[in-house]
Amino acid sequence: MIPAKKLVGRAARAVIRTFTGSNLAQDSVAAEVEANTAPGMPALARQAAAEGCVLLTNDATLPLSPDAPIAVFGRRQIDWAHMGNGSGGDVNPPYLTNLLDGLEDVGARYDHVLAELYRSWCADPKHAKDPGFWGHWPHCLPEMTISHELARAAAADAEVALVVIGRTAGEDQDLAPEPGGYYLTSDEHELLQTVSEHFSHMVVVLDVCNIIDLSWMDLYAPKLSAVLIAWAGGMEAGNAVADVLYGRVNPCGRLTDAIALDLVDHPSSATFGQTKRQEYTEGIFIGHRHFSTFAPNEMRFPLGHGLSYTSFSYEPLGCERHDMSIYLRIYVTNTGPRAGRDAIVAWCEAPRGLIQKPLTVVAAFGKTGELQPGESEEVTLIAELRDIASFDETRRAFVLERGAYLFRASDMLLGKVALDDDVAFEHLKPICSEDVDLRARILSHVERLEGSESDASALSLPELEALTRGAGTMNVSAGPTGNAGAFGGITPELQARGIPPVICADGPSGARLARRCSLLPCATALASTWDVDLVRSLYALVGHEVAEAGVDVLLAPGMNLHRSPLCGRNFEYFSEDPVLTGHMASAVVEGLRSAGVDACPKHFACNNQERGRNTLDVRVDERTLRELYLRPFQICVRDAKPRLIMTSYNKVNGVWAHYGFDLVTTVLRGEWGFEGVVITDWWMQRSRSPEFPTLRDNAYRVRAGVDVLMPGNIGRVARGYRAHPSLLESLGKPDGITRAEIEACAARVLAFIMQPKR
Ligand code: BGC
Repeated sequence: MIPAKKLVGRAARAVIRTFTGSNLAQDSVAAEVEANTAPGMPALARQAAAEGCVLLTNDATLPLSPDAPIAVFGRRQIDWAHMGNGSGGDVNPPYLTNLLDGLEDVGARYDHVLAELYRSWCADPKHAKDPGFWGHWPHCLPEMTISHELARAAAADAEVALVVIGRTAGEDQDLAPEPGGYYLTSDEHELLQTVSEHFSHMVVVLDVCNIIDLSWMDLYAPKLSAVLIAWAGGMEAGNAVADVLYGRVNPCGRLTDAIALDLVDHPSSATFGQTKRQEYTEGIFIGHRHFSTFAPNEMRFPLGHGLSYTSFSYEPLGCERHDMSIYLRIYVTNTGPRAGRDAIVAWCEAPRGLIQKPLTVVAAFGKTGELQPGESEEVTLIAELRDIASFDETRRAFVLERGAYLFRASDMLLGKVALDDDVAFEHLKPICSEDVDLRARILSHVERLEGSESDASALSLPELEALTRGAGTMNVSAGPTGNAGAFGGITPELQARGIPPVICADGPSGARLARRCSLLPCATALASTWDVDLVRSLYALVGHEVAEAGVDVLLAPGMNLHRSPLCGRNFEYFSEDPVLTGHMASAVVEGLRSAGVDACPKHFACNNQERGRNTLDVRVDERTLRELYLRPFQICVRDAKPRLIMTSYNKVNGVWAHYGFDLVTTVLRGEWGFEGVVITDWWMQRSRSPEFPTLRDNAYRVRAGVDVLMPGNIGRVARGYRAHPSLLESLGKPDGITRAEIEACAARVLAFIMQPKR
């Protein structure tokens, strides 16, 4: 074990400051850090949070010099938003660092009088943060009023003002397209206005879970020297932001979404927010795909944007095709004055052809190591042609049209691949459409299952039933307090057969348990690093903590797409881009697995809005479904082979995802070869099967191939499990559930438990 003092170093002092008011003594906090975080975690979490920061603009005011006095405004310098709310946040970290802690840590000269004023204002119970409650967490906080006199006094001693603007987000609610949600509040405007009147340099730090409106950048442009998106950066956020502001870390994060000039410029704005039925009318043209193709002038910043304190030059070294993989070699040189890393995004321009396509899409990406001034590195990016192919509903296949595919990074041509003829692959049946004869499709699958022998054949019906559902509620006694539930060996009978329970815990920001665990930067921040190796290493450490806590499955990564900047869970998701999302998710799965923990990618599929997530019917054409919303899962299943997948709450084209035969059996298992266990999101909507009216609820779900109902009861039950007749009541009846179908689900659960974890 690394000695506590060495491990936490200055972080421990930051802890004391953040916990001011609690009785924790420095040594006990240090001991908590040592006991509850994986060795090396504070440093890696700090690096990830810093490298995920995206510098949007900078007139050379950044990096700051530790000798130059600064004044810091905005209560979020203290009440930093470290994470979002709900299952993708709510981690109990051993410590938190806010911006003031970070400034202390880097030895910054900041206005202590002003900081003290903010400290006492924030500490006043009248201004205490409203903690809110499930689905109703406040996204913004009221600001302390800054008088002109105060701003003038602060400006007398400092040339640069830092202003922190914060926004959280959370599950079961979206950001409102209103002040305090997507837009700034009048308090925040007033703060920016006052500060900009007195300081010649204003640097705005955005401590946000989602992208918010940036039109105020135009209003304050003359004084606005720099804007840095710091995201919800987890427990090391304050230190990480200070690292970037003071140039200890060269900014190397890049946007994972395009930022629109105006919210309504996003095509999804036409339908986002509808809670019963939502047509994805924009089809494949979300975010950057839309802006680059149809409306480049409506984009404030493109996907991939992010400035650096140094500069890089690129020399293409060649492009080779190996079957469907394109190897793009590029020689990157740090031509600027500072050491730093560079993220390289390779875009592909496909030939025009007969299929309408986005002008350009992300094809591959990579990251250099830390390059000293003058130093170079050869980077190889691998673009998979499969992942940029179009789905042609007429040919019922993925198609690469003939012609030239141009691969570019930073406007430089990296390579060109020419196809003489169209290439069509994966000839596929129609899915998730009312035109499909689902009854016939399902019946032929049920027939195929008949007579097959499995490990589950020897089990009794009650045992089989128990294997197809969780223990009943969250926080089961078999796991650590705060767990999300268990499945597998959840009855004494199953345990007597040597089948252990599988303990699950949320989630994407680190283990959400009662005990202390590391709080990570949010998924958008992690993706903004464009560094899969870093994310894999970070999740290996998370896996270590999760395993130590006695948890088998982490309910992460979140893999839905940022279809709209308003989705309340965007912070849990990586990007609007399916390729980036697929690779980031694979890194999470692999990192956890290296520590013997299983990931559970979620929510399959189209959970791109929180409001009405249990009622919403997402109407999406097959091309869009396959090219955008299923593609990240396909990449992850192919590359990282997760052993679990969680369905989503919403309907896809009229069918709840947890009853989605096509999603789960036709696509996930049939087309992609997924052999693992599919679990529901927590609880499910009750329904009778339209194809087989004898079936309802659990039997309808099992027929779809959704193996386990989590956490076990159909609706919420305070304690334990309430037996539900819906699985077995139709057994033996015409069209009823068959033993073979139940055995197939149970066998997958058994295989999951019996297979070695790594
Ligand atoms: C969320 C899931 C989460 C589950 C268990 C649900 O409300 O949608 O993402 O894993 O709860 O907490």
